[in-house]
Amino acid sequence: MASSSSSLPTTISFSVTFLILLSSLKTASGCFTSIFALGDSLADTGNYATIYPPIFHLSKGTLYCGLPPYGETYFHHPTGRCSDGRLIIDFIAEYYGLPPVPPYLRGANHRSNSRFQAGLNFAVAGATALDVPFYGEKGISSTLANISMSTQLRWFKGLLPSLCNSSSCSEVFKSSLFLMGFGGNDYGKAFLQGKSLEETKSLVPLVISATRSAINELIDLGVVNIMVNGLLPDGCSPAMLTYFKSSNKEDYDTATGCLSWLNDFSNYHNELLQEELNGVRANHPDALILYADYFNPLMQLFRSPEQNGFGGRSLMACCGDGGPPYNYNFSAQCGEPASTACAWPSLYISWDGIHLTEAAYRFMAKGLLEGPYTTPRINTFCTSMKKDFGFASAMTSQL
Ligand SMILES: *[C@@H]1O[C@H](CO)[C@@H](O)[C@H](O)[C@H]1NC(C)=O
Ligand SMILES: *[C@@H]1O[C@H](CO)[C@@H](O)[C@H](O)[C@H]1NC(C)=O
Ligand SMILES: *[C@@H]1O[C@H](CO)[C@@H](O)[C@H](O)[C@H]1NC(C)=O
Repeated sequence: MASSSSSLPTTISFSVTFLILLSSLKTASGCFTSIFALGDSLADTGNYATIYPPIFHLSKGTLYCGLPPYGETYFHHPTGRCSDGRLIIDFIAEYYGLPPVPPYLRGANHRSNSRFQAGLNFAVAGATALDVPFYGEKGISSTLANISMSTQLRWFKGLLPSLCNSSSCSEVFKSSLFLMGFGGNDYGKAFLQGKSLEETKSLVPLVISATRSAINELIDLGVVNIMVNGLLPDGCSPAMLTYFKSSNKEDYDTATGCLSWLNDFSNYHNELLQEELNGVRANHPDALILYADYFNPLMQLFRSPEQNGFGGRSLMACCGDGGPPYNYNFSAQCGEPASTACAWPSLYISWDGIHLTEAAYRFMAKGLLEGPYTTPRINTFCTSMKKDFGFASAMTSQL
């Protein structure tokens, strides 16, 4: 919103907590000039709701993100984002002085590239890293959109002729940030359809290797700045806490009340992903491959919600109809007539039991953009990138 284009200080030493309490996000205009995204409901700004308009949402097994009260806090109407307001991708766009990244399926019939100069969002809620037929063979059914990472990559490739019409793709993508994040739905579907921990764990290397192939493909197409996010701490999700409620105290982390085994699973994926990204960096030293940690900033919040400006009921969804302790009920999910939303979503971490509130996404975005939660740190990169660009263009103009 605010367009004061101050560059980031090179030494940011104050704590993330301090920033959260005292300031809104600063901006760093000119660092990136467009954003593209592949992913799932953590990044979907309206694609799923375009494929399945709200009227169909009333059938069981679909998502309700296109219905009220979704969007109530910021947009004041449902946009298809699975939250009460903005997502991490929205905060990133604002930070770089860019408009919200438009959902591809809403603009797909526009073939003029002026429409997506500031980027495009291919993320679809429910999307998996692995293809839908693969899960069919494993006896895991697809309950949401039949869309995977490869579908989104295909959409992106289909646009290249118009995106890179007047210059080379690598020229176009030099100042683009490419966001990417999958896995939550792959594992979530397996867990919720009764697959064992071991069986679900066997999917992890496949998800990671599919992610690596997709990154390599993007790099071959000229993409150079890619931020790949890891999994959320799924053991703290009210939906998972409800499904996997246990009488065994050992299943829970005493500090947070989250399911330890499920958080360990998220960490397992995240560690393998980071190792894989190290490999990609080694093979492509010219590309900027960022890992975005979605796990640790949230754990910080679950451990000390009140110190970070949130309420004390950190494992309870704001919107739903389940009552304490988690307020999640599959038969009366947020968006369904029986559900109600809490009065102050910004005091909650979970919005609907599965997805987070705008307040939690903002907290995470700050930790990524101004704090320590990207590897390498994106703030140091952008400062030097601006210098490099200035240097490069000065050189060019002298030639
Ligand atoms: C999902 O899409 C794939 C490829 O796009 C197709 O082969 C498959 O039949 C579809 N599955 C369903 C259930 O629609
Ligand atoms: C590039 O775009 C212009 C205007 O949109 C169009 O006339 C031209 O045919 C395009 N060129 C290619 C190679 O697609
Ligand atoms: C869940 O929702 C259904 C349908 O509204 C309701 O009958 C049931 O009592 C709810 N369960 C809980 C635990 O609140």
